Amino acid sequence: MVQKTRLGVLVSGSGSNLQAIMDACHEGKIDAEVVVVGSDNPKAYGLERAAKAGIPTFTVSYSDAKHRFVLGDVKGVEAPADYDVEDVKRKMGKHAERLGIYGGRERAVAEAELLQKLDSHRIDLLVLAGFMRLLTPWFIDRMNRGPLDPRIENIHPALLPSFPGTNGYEDTWNYGCKVYGSTVHFVDYGEDTGPIIGQTALVRRPDMTLEQFKKEGLAAEWELFPACIQLFAEGRLSLETSPNGRKVVKIADRAVAV
Ligand code: GRF
Repeated sequence: MVQKTRLGVLVSGSGSNLQAIMDACHEGKIDAEVVVVGSDNPKAYGLERAAKAGIPTFTVSYSDAKHRFVLGDVKGVEAPADYDVEDVKRKMGKHAERLGIYGGRERAVAEAELLQKLDSHRIDLLVLAGFMRLLTPWFIDRMNRGPLDPRIENIHPALLPSFPGTNGYEDTWNYGCKVYGSTVHFVDYGEDTGPIIGQTALVRRPDMTLEQFKKEGLAAEWELFPACIQLFAEGRLSLETSPNGRKVVKIADRAVAV
């Protein structure tokens, strides 16, 4: 029997991608199981979906963590001892300004909690399914097994590298693109910049409304994400360096049984 890949999933909202992933696991379409679902938002419907499926859930409050860090209202709350602001900033390069005035230290308080909760479920892969928080290099380095062994997959609602950020579909629509879609990528230190695992491209019909555009885009995500998780589960993903020095994903052929 195939050893199932243990997934931790983070959501901030509706969790329709989480649902698609849980369904794919349940129906045996992918060799994975969702072992824990976490959120930064206690009201995320994704948490309810997980609970209905009997999957353990947790919430980490980023605002509490920030409050504790900034005001120190709980004695002794500090960024993790090994959180090195200069190292984090260097790794993020031009994206470092996204860390804000505390250099990500307050964020790392919440991330330490996230890590501890995810680690206790011994996950193989962390799946970001509409998780709307920036992850610092401190967290990413602890989740990955090494620079060439990434363990965080994210789905983004645009054909990267176009339209990173929080409004992929709207940005693509407003730009007047005739082709659109979604991207699953490994998470690196930038904003939606990591090595691309898979993409689905859709054609914008002239008679489409923005609502249809987003609805059909999201429905396509529900196919793409499980497929990209399965590639990880099959051990077919590795990173290689392209001629311009960028890390890109190489997908190995499926092993043929002999
Ligand atoms: C999706 O469009 C995903 O690409 C983006 O956030 C949305 C999450 O939707 N990152 P859901 O919570 O999975 O329904």
